[in-house]
Amino acid sequence: MDITLATGPWQDVDTDWLIVGYAPADSPETFPAPLAALDEALDGTIARLISSGDITGKLAELHLLADVPGIAAGRLLLVGVGSIDRLTSAKLEKALVTATRRASKAASVRAAIALPSQEDGILDDNSAAGLAAMALQTGCVGQSLYRTEPGRHAFSEATVVSDAQQSAAVDRGSILGQAINLTREMVNRTAMEVYPETFADRAVTVANECGLECEVLDENRLRDERMGSLLAVAQGSTRPPRVVVLRHNGAGQDAPSLAIVGKGVTFDSGGLSLKSNEGMKTMKCDMAGAATMLGAMTAIARLDLPVNVIGLAGLVENMPDGNSFKLGDVLTARNGTTIEVLNTDAEGRLVLADVLAYAVDLGARRLIDLATLTGACVVALGEEVTGVFSNDDEWRDQVVEASARSGEPAWPMPMLDLFDDLIKSDVADIKNVGPRWGGAITAAKFLERFVDDTPWVHLDIAGPSFASSNKAHREGGGTGCMVRTLVAAAEAMENG
Ligand code: BES
Ligand code: MN
Ligand code: ZN
Repeated sequence: MDITLATGPWQDVDTDWLIVGYAPADSPETFPAPLAALDEALDGTIARLISSGDITGKLAELHLLADVPGIAAGRLLLVGVGSIDRLTSAKLEKALVTATRRASKAASVRAAIALPSQEDGILDDNSAAGLAAMALQTGCVGQSLYRTEPGRHAFSEATVVSDAQQSAAVDRGSILGQAINLTREMVNRTAMEVYPETFADRAVTVANECGLECEVLDENRLRDERMGSLLAVAQGSTRPPRVVVLRHNGAGQDAPSLAIVGKGVTFDSGGLSLKSNEGMKTMKCDMAGAATMLGAMTAIARLDLPVNVIGLAGLVENMPDGNSFKLGDVLTARNGTTIEVLNTDAEGRLVLADVLAYAVDLGARRLIDLATLTGACVVALGEEVTGVFSNDDEWRDQVVEASARSGEPAWPMPMLDLFDDLIKSDVADIKNVGPRWGGAITAAKFLERFVDDTPWVHLDIAGPSFASSNKAHREGGGTGCMVRTLVAAAEAMENG
């Protein structure tokens, strides 16, 4: 779906649903000029709704006017953005996605978003126009992939009404929205459809579409590359493992590379340490890290960022079987580290161990991995905040700042030496589980053993990557979280 940029008076926008943001302070005397003109065309309807208290401007409040003969649009959907001086990109996104979700229930709808100028607010017009484009892309796509009657429909036309200078911002927002939708779709598809080979096939297709180099490592190659830890996890499944390597070469040959590594467990049954029914229900989402990498790589390529980025996905299915890896097994990872397996459900770190070591061997100078790694991280930070773990304070701060700029909550966790003792093994170098407490940190400490001295950030997205229910402001299922943060972190690499 393409997004067009339109200019001109709001009352003249020819669309089925015109979405207009307004703030609580927008009383008729202080209406921004385009809103005042719109209200005049409507004979003062908006002013009357404000004085009657029917609309307040509260964040994400919707008010639909379905019969608006005075203006070119078929319907007017007013959406509150909350107080302008406390507006953040996360709040504006919430308001706009609530509105685009509302408008996308019917098929073949033309939708447009008009925003007041942010002159007095902390958001600049560029970010606002970008968010509007993104909201048009993401709000009309849902998780009802397998319904005979889909709950949501792509807009037949989508427009951002703004001034002409914002066309680059609109393009960027649209690209990010499409990248997020790709990540969401991959997560939302069932494990029956998405397994290592089909994920890799899709990566090849997507790479060809957007100009990324793509290489797929099959089982034999993974054996040649000594990825004993990843291969052990894959052993119990009829689906053979894959590692996908994508490359965007936007800078010179000698420029340093950022590597983005994603956990791609296409289904996590727990293996012989089998999960409960309740714990297993949503485990098609356990490849969200790999899907996030894929989404971000498409955006990095389409934006043609002047940086070198390598995207890697470690793809396996974790299943119980006569051939499964077992408790007490000792694995040798690519970098020679030996690992005692004490829980086959702590499989994500075993997959990432080899792929992180491979990224280091490819010459990556900065690393970010993303993984639905631990339930413990969800206990620590809740369902909406990403856990940040690192071996390098400067690189960690850069990634956290990228998340803040992107409106995606992320929080640093302590990586103290004392946690290293908790994964020591009597029979091997390390074991794959620590004690119950601090489980997100011991998992990160395990990963740290495979990155040498490369500045590395681990993002535990077990909470925010998958939402269990629909809300007015966001669809349930895959969320596409951290796609924007990855793109922003790659953009920050441009500057040093
Ligand atoms: N994929 C899970 C983590 C997870 C939990 C993701 C909930 C999304 C939502 C991971 O492989 C896992 O099973 N982790 C175990 C680790 C434990 C065995 C040390 C966990 O969190 O219980
Ligand atoms: Mn697991
Ligand atoms: Zn897992």
